[in-house]
Amino acid sequence: MDKLTIRDFDAAGKRVFVRVDFNVPLADGKVTDDSRIRAALPTIVTLLNEGARVVLASHLGRPDGKVQDGLRLRPVGQRLGQLLRRNVPVTGDALGIGTEDAVKRMRPGETILLENLRFHAEEEKNDPTFAQALASYADVFVNDAFGTAHRAHASTVGIARLLPAYAGLLMEREITVLSRLLENPERPFAAILGGAKVSDKIPVIEHLLTKVDLLVFGGGMANTFLLAQGKSVGKSLAEHDRVDDARRILAAAEKAGVEVVLPVDVIIAKEVTRGTEYKTVGTEKFPASWHIVDLGEQSRAAIEAALADARTVLWNGPLGVFEIPSFAHGTNAIARYLAARAEEGVTVVVGGGDSVAAIEQQGLTAKFTHISTGGGASLEFLEGRELPGIAVLQDRPTDEGSTAARRTPAASGVKS
Ligand code: 3PG
Repeated sequence: MDKLTIRDFDAAGKRVFVRVDFNVPLADGKVTDDSRIRAALPTIVTLLNEGARVVLASHLGRPDGKVQDGLRLRPVGQRLGQLLRRNVPVTGDALGIGTEDAVKRMRPGETILLENLRFHAEEEKNDPTFAQALASYADVFVNDAFGTAHRAHASTVGIARLLPAYAGLLMEREITVLSRLLENPERPFAAILGGAKVSDKIPVIEHLLTKVDLLVFGGGMANTFLLAQGKSVGKSLAEHDRVDDARRILAAAEKAGVEVVLPVDVIIAKEVTRGTEYKTVGTEKFPASWHIVDLGEQSRAAIEAALADARTVLWNGPLGVFEIPSFAHGTNAIARYLAARAEEGVTVVVGGGDSVAAIEQQGLTAKFTHISTGGGASLEFLEGRELPGIAVLQDRPTDEGSTAARRTPAASGVKS
């Protein structure tokens, strides 16, 4: 990776502002999926062990610049405290005298979590005064929020222009693994793309077409490709205004020599609800008033056969209506198959969203090569776009003799 990381500076005694992505699901005041918190632990623990004062900051949800009690970070601080086995105080606000004093009082090896940054509209506007206020808490900026790296906000981009800016260990891993997929994958390289809509994924499909040997489509987005092949999909979720795009993608794949696998049989249901009537049909003969809800057995077998030689697999998006257990079999089966392949040494990378949920529910998480913490961020990265939160971090010097273009710490940095 060509960015400097937390291994490139001495954190002892420094105040380090660490942008994390603790945008995690909550229910009844508790964190229901702590994977993003756990993913940030290596950076936090390394800095604390080195004797840094670690000021953590994140957004949670989209409060649009207003305080929303349901989006306070207290439950996140509690969960982080359990994982670190220490108290993690959460400030009442990201700004203000109380927070400045709390930061000043921090001792080496202590951490604090600022309240939800998005309670201030200035965060998403990348307001320079807000960025300066955040920068005043620290000597050094570390971005470990890969999931938010596609947002040019005050805490991801503004602050990085004011302080020496380094990548955290999670950020480093995400960039390294996803870059290797795009630049130097072991071949054959297959991508499995699912989820509801093809429109969300056209740029990533187009970019991957230049990189992969095999493309597998499942979930709602496959229905638009079935339409492009002249098949009917009844009342299934499909984007009729995107059929031309699907046709264009299929033609481009053929031209590039990329094999495309689409469902050959599907589970169809009378309604997309629990407890409804369902059955398996081939995609050639489709009953007009039914909905496609999952892959059929033959499709699962065809996908596994196509993937049999793959040495690298990228998976993004569920392959059926995964929220309804009767229609989660295709997604779950592919998750189990990929976990087994990863155990055999195949590189299997999963990018964000519901495919991650399928893996976690089946206890397969540890088997995969990498599960990205980014949803939108990993898609944009895989589209080949430069993410602003990464671009702004300090580059690694290209030759041994030169030193990194380190920036002067903010003059107003809080000092003890
Ligand atoms: C995410 O969950 O994808 C990130 O935290 C970014 O959140 P956002 O889409 O609200 O900016």
